[in-house]
Amino acid sequence: MKTRHKFTTYLLIVILPLIILSIIYWMYLERSIQKERREQAVWAGTVYQEYIDQVISETKENLELLSLSSSVLYMDDKKTEHLMKWIKDTDSRYAGVYWLNQDGVSISGTNKHFNNYHLIEQDDIKRAVKTQKAVVVGTQELYDPDFNYFSIFAPILDHDKKAQGFLLAHIRLDHMEKILKMLSPGHTFRLETNDKTRILNINAEEFTEHPTWVDVPLTEVDWKLSVKIPDKINTNNMNVFLMLVFFTFFFTHIIYTFVEELIVRRNTKNQKLLNDKQKIDFVGTLAASTAHEIKNPLTGIKGLVQLLVEKHPEEQDQFYYSVIMKEIERINSIVSEFLILGKPMVQTLSLYDIRSIIAELRPIIESEARHLNIEVEWNIVKEPILVHCTKDQLKQVILNIAKNGFEAMEVGKKLRIRIHHENERAKIIIIDTGQGLNEQDIGKVFEPFYTSKKEGTGLGLFVCKRIIESFNGTIELTSKPLNGTTVTISLPLINDHPCIEEFHL
Ligand SMILES: Nc1ncnc2c1ncn2[C@@H]1O[C@H](COP(=O)(O)OP(=O)(O)OP(=O)(O)O)[C@@H](O)[C@H]1O
Ligand SMILES: [Mg+2]
Repeated sequence: MKTRHKFTTYLLIVILPLIILSIIYWMYLERSIQKERREQAVWAGTVYQEYIDQVISETKENLELLSLSSSVLYMDDKKTEHLMKWIKDTDSRYAGVYWLNQDGVSISGTNKHFNNYHLIEQDDIKRAVKTQKAVVVGTQELYDPDFNYFSIFAPILDHDKKAQGFLLAHIRLDHMEKILKMLSPGHTFRLETNDKTRILNINAEEFTEHPTWVDVPLTEVDWKLSVKIPDKINTNNMNVFLMLVFFTFFFTHIIYTFVEELIVRRNTKNQKLLNDKQKIDFVGTLAASTAHEIKNPLTGIKGLVQLLVEKHPEEQDQFYYSVIMKEIERINSIVSEFLILGKPMVQTLSLYDIRSIIAELRPIIESEARHLNIEVEWNIVKEPILVHCTKDQLKQVILNIAKNGFEAMEVGKKLRIRIHHENERAKIIIIDTGQGLNEQDIGKVFEPFYTSKKEGTGLGLFVCKRIIESFNGTIELTSKPLNGTTVTISLPLINDHPCIEEFHL
């Protein structure tokens, strides 16, 4: 049973949280890796986009600038050819540079093969004539299929802004591909025109069935640049995961140990309470069966001693009888306390003014105090303080506490008894200036059979607590070693009751 209980606690505190937290960690790490993979693809896409846009914008600018020198081109074929050759040779991105007539037919250029070829379509010519700006045209395959290019051409405008011809540059895709691979290696990406003509296709062999892509828009041309989100990236997430699992395991174990300790403590406490209850029950049964039997012969003995007191008036004999009577009283009070332990605490309570009970107790306490040379200070409010209780039991409580106070004090000290009400509670406060108690002992004083006295039963305060709790009240003891002890009894105050018997303090 105990092992089963331990296993359940272990399962709830260690195993289940470990499994749940491991799943959460893993999901979290997976999500962060996915995010990182996407960010990497976006970053690579931005690098590619910047390069492609830069190539296109530079080429456009160059062609537009050159077309401005149209007069030179028209004046001298040789110079024009020379210029075109110079442009091609100085920049390796160019596959060729061509001069075209108004119909888009090549007049001259860096590659003689293209002479008299239609190098641009009518639609593109119209676009360039209309915008009077350089135009980018999608890829075409050259005679060599491995050597791809795309074209950019700009109109050569006369004084009336009419297109006299065109300047066209072929941009080498193999060159661009080489640069792009260098800029951000290891990525898969594709560049397409908006009619889905594939322009560039880097690492195409790595394409999987359903790859996920991020699209990065180009600013210079209406093409689509897509970068594949990498399937794997180098991370140390497995190490991180194992570390988190380890720490969780470690902490859940600490919590488990702590909880186990609490459970053991609670069980020990419960066991102690059970033992105490069994002790009390035992004493109760014993009291119920014997106390009554003891009380009867005791009353007989007391009566007979009373007779003897009258019969033998000698001083010596009177002294012996007084000792016998005192001892009989002591036995009587112990038996009475035993009877209380045996009694069930459900009883009929009556309404009393605490001050009337105190009035009856006062002579007893004061004569005892006088005997011990202790001063008693009374502090009692003028108005009635009504509570529900049984008179004899409340008397017994106050006497027990006062007796403890006397026993704790050396001769010549002071006992204060205060009776008042506060926040709908009646308060009886008994303060002594005795030796006091340390904190450890304070915790034990209400336990049955706890005593520091040679002749004490250790039942006094325990009985007081039981009685006061049966009146729905509370009893507290505060103390400091060598600084005296204060016992506070708090009972529910009954506010309005018309007829209370008169008494004199
Ligand atoms: N006013 C007090 N000052 C110092 N110690 C006290 C005081 N009241 C109680 N105690 C301590 O608490 C213990 C328990 O008190 P309790 O009245 O229950 O039993 P007891 O006085 O020892 O025995 P009994 O009441 O049967 O004579 C005492 O033995 C004493 O050590
Ligand atoms: Mg006592």
